[in-house]
Amino acid sequence: MRFLVVGGGAREHAIAATLVRADAEVVVASANANPGLDRVAAASVRVDPTDGARVARVAAEQHVEAAVIGPEAPLAAGVADALRAAEVPTVGPDRAAARIESSKQFCRDLLARHHVGGQPRWVAPASVEEADRAVADFPAAFVVKPSGLTAGKGVWVQGSDFTDPKEGAAYAKSILLQGGRVLLEEKLVGVEFSLMAFVTDSGVYPMPAVQDFKRALEGNQGGNTGGMGSYSQRDHLLPFLPAADRDRALAILESSVAALRAEGLSYRGILYGGFMLTASGPVLLEFNARFGDPEGINALVLYEEGDFAELLAGVAAGRVDPNLVSFRLRATVTKYLVPPGYGDRPRSGGLLSVDEGAIEAAGVRVFYGSVEAAGPGVVRLGTSRGVALVGEASAIHEAGSRVESALRFVSGDYYVRHDIGTKDDLARRWEHLRRLRAPTAKPSPLPLSVAPPDAPPSSAGPPEQLLG
Ligand code: AMP
Ligand code: GLY
Repeated sequence: MRFLVVGGGAREHAIAATLVRADAEVVVASANANPGLDRVAAASVRVDPTDGARVARVAAEQHVEAAVIGPEAPLAAGVADALRAAEVPTVGPDRAAARIESSKQFCRDLLARHHVGGQPRWVAPASVEEADRAVADFPAAFVVKPSGLTAGKGVWVQGSDFTDPKEGAAYAKSILLQGGRVLLEEKLVGVEFSLMAFVTDSGVYPMPAVQDFKRALEGNQGGNTGGMGSYSQRDHLLPFLPAADRDRALAILESSVAALRAEGLSYRGILYGGFMLTASGPVLLEFNARFGDPEGINALVLYEEGDFAELLAGVAAGRVDPNLVSFRLRATVTKYLVPPGYGDRPRSGGLLSVDEGAIEAAGVRVFYGSVEAAGPGVVRLGTSRGVALVGEASAIHEAGSRVESALRFVSGDYYVRHDIGTKDDLARRWEHLRRLRAPTAKPSPLPLSVAPPDAPPSSAGPPEQLLG
């Protein structure tokens, strides 16, 4: 089959590579030339990926049989609508359903209308006066979220991005005064995880759960970013995530898809739930209407048992054979190499030498993001996330060590979070949740819509995979 892949980052490189492994042909439609995509693609066309008419024309000229849309901006701009109108079956929801990501207010309103559980307390003030009142009414810490797309960088959390509630209120009001919409949410306490699923008319088919690292700097310091790295566990759960909580998160995805459908919105694509696992179970932070970046890369490298081209064609056509949704039982760690200063003031233009042969010989995969080719084995960093390295092993910390040892085959000026996927980090998160869920823990101020907690993780000590 011949697929159009819309987008030019490391996530799209991983999508394209997985399709090519399944003997599909890939045509890329992206704004940038990507040295990794260029290598796997049969053709690569420079377009504005949010220009639906232009992307649909590329699909026709290139005789593709289906399309898959990587990033959120084309989905929010209606590129899936344009492709479907041109009779190209597409993985990615139409603009109206993609509002589940592109409008946080639409998302929370929809889920409230349909009584979908696992939501925080939230309010969408319509004026600066309402924002002041809402801040005064929040009993505990709160979070300020622009309603629209911000590439993961617009959310301010009390305690990390501001301390005085007045600062949070000022930020919320500045968004309103610029004509934007804003949500205030109670600050949830717990451990985050992502659960992605293939969604089509025939059902919701989950992928392995993944943990993303959003903060720019080690120790989860610095500003929120699109994601500096991520890991997944061999059994597709996470060290701190029991099956019962994963299943609850999946039930939230399923109820949300049902809510969309009840409002006449069909959904054929990837649905990504970002959750906080709290003392009271998983609570939804946000939905994305696409593969996470980097979380999608963790899932995609594990997809080797089935036929990815057939699976994506099924998602686009409305019916998936559940046997095709199968992921290998291995742990993965992805780390992004980014320009120094990324997350705040990235210094682009630096050269990286990447000895891809040596890295792959060490069992680590390389996916290229915001870089351009600058000679054999050399790329120039842009302002965004540059190169993703993905290791796999039977335990998360071993996969992390593989990536760390592959770094000796990369030289140049870059930043990477060495703490992603280390035993220390895993043990810290596990302990955090254990304390939160211990019977003596103070009751959390969670809404009643959240189901009661399971038994806390065993107090006998961290699970085997942490000790490995
Ligand atoms: P979002 O774009 O909604 O996923 O928010 C980006 C990041 O902000 C999340 O990954 C969390 O780290 C943080 N965040 C968002 N909402 C909340 C919340 N209600 N409580 C605590 N942290 C949050
Ligand atoms: N890593 C978070 C996202 O893809 O939005």
